[in-house]
Amino acid sequence: MTSLSAPITIVRPEIIEFGVGVAAKLGKWAAAQGFERVLVVSDAFNASRVDILELPGRITVFSQVKPEPDTDNLDLLLSVASEARADLIVGFGGGSAMDLAKLASVLSGSAQTLRDVVGAGKVAQRRQVGLAQVPTTSGTGSEAGIRALVTDPQTQAKLAVESIHMLADIAVIDPSLTFTVPAATTAATGVDAMAHCVEAFTNRKAHPMIDLYAIEGVRLVGRYLARAVADGSDSEARAGLSLASLYGGFCLGPVNTAGGHALAYPLGTRWHVAHGAANALIFPHVLAFNTPAVAEKTTQVIEALNLKAAADQASVFDATFGFCAGLGIEMRLSGLGVPADDLAAMADDAFAIRRLLDNNPRELARDDILSIYQAAY
Ligand SMILES: NC(=O)c1ccc[n+]([C@@H]2O[C@H](COP(=O)([O-])OP(=O)(O)OC[C@H]3O[C@@H](n4cnc5c(N)ncnc54)[C@H](O)[C@@H]3O)[C@@H](O)[C@H]2O)c1
Ligand SMILES: [Fe+2]
Repeated sequence: MTSLSAPITIVRPEIIEFGVGVAAKLGKWAAAQGFERVLVVSDAFNASRVDILELPGRITVFSQVKPEPDTDNLDLLLSVASEARADLIVGFGGGSAMDLAKLASVLSGSAQTLRDVVGAGKVAQRRQVGLAQVPTTSGTGSEAGIRALVTDPQTQAKLAVESIHMLADIAVIDPSLTFTVPAATTAATGVDAMAHCVEAFTNRKAHPMIDLYAIEGVRLVGRYLARAVADGSDSEARAGLSLASLYGGFCLGPVNTAGGHALAYPLGTRWHVAHGAANALIFPHVLAFNTPAVAEKTTQVIEALNLKAAADQASVFDATFGFCAGLGIEMRLSGLGVPADDLAAMADDAFAIRRLLDNNPRELARDDILSIYQAAY
């Protein structure tokens, strides 16, 4: 783990605009590039304020992105995209909108279907349209990455598509766009951003080039998340979280998440718990479980969060559970409407997510997963 000699590939959007008030820079960039037909992929809330982006040309707004979108939601977007014949696609919203924008950018007008591109490196052709991402939550870091997730309604599994062709040409990160995120979503998505950083930092595939961003992302969440939850218009705190989210996105590409996200997914797919809320609930359990395998790095995480804890599993659990609960996050599975008799099936589902579990620093057996769900109940 964390070997300097391990090979790593880093890709980033060519342009990253960051700062309070930079949203309109997207329109200037798009005009300078000569784009004439723009498709904005958005949820209902963000669709009502597309003007902020000052986009040029003929604008089509798809306003129907659902949280944790499924393949039906994607199909609806693709039918709108084929009418719009855009030369620029803009993801404007949280991870849900940005992920659908990524998929539309490579599937619209292509002979490939979603099924053809699930997995890594399956998109056959360079995309024919520009792609811009504008995050309005601070959680997923999807603006910086090459992955998109969409739920298969039949199996309830998340289908993951990974392709260099889904990397944005430009990411415009304006923290003021997140002022309106409600306190509960701010808390949950902030812990999600931190979980991306922590799971990359303590990952089997951890790398010094990414550790730098990972631990700084944790520090930013430790410093600013409680402030942003208390006062949504605290622009310094919001900027700190937008940066933490971006750093989490930097962690996802080359390293990715591990056990925490694997255990969180069944909550979302089976019980429609929001991605951030699911990850926040699972986070202290998996961090504590992993402590014996990555003791030194766990201590660094605790320090970066400005928490006090000894290096044993129980102390790590108590400190991080207290951090999440203190933000007002629901930390019991029973409190989220998950029925007790589904825990075994959830453990089976989580255990099958090898692409993430194989990254975990400590082997998580199916019964370890069930024990964690029972403890979290
Ligand atoms: N591509 C990746 O690398 C990656 C990483 C992590 C998560 N994800 C995916 O991202 C999705 C979750 O994204 P998310 O947590 O950003 O949530 P989201 O995009 O689903 O948005 C959550 C809710 O907040 C609303 N919202 C968004 N911005 C708002 C604002 N500024 N003010 C008020 N309300 C606002 C949305 O309408 C929605 O109802 C999941 O599908 C998850 O699997 C992707
Ligand atoms: Fe996440």
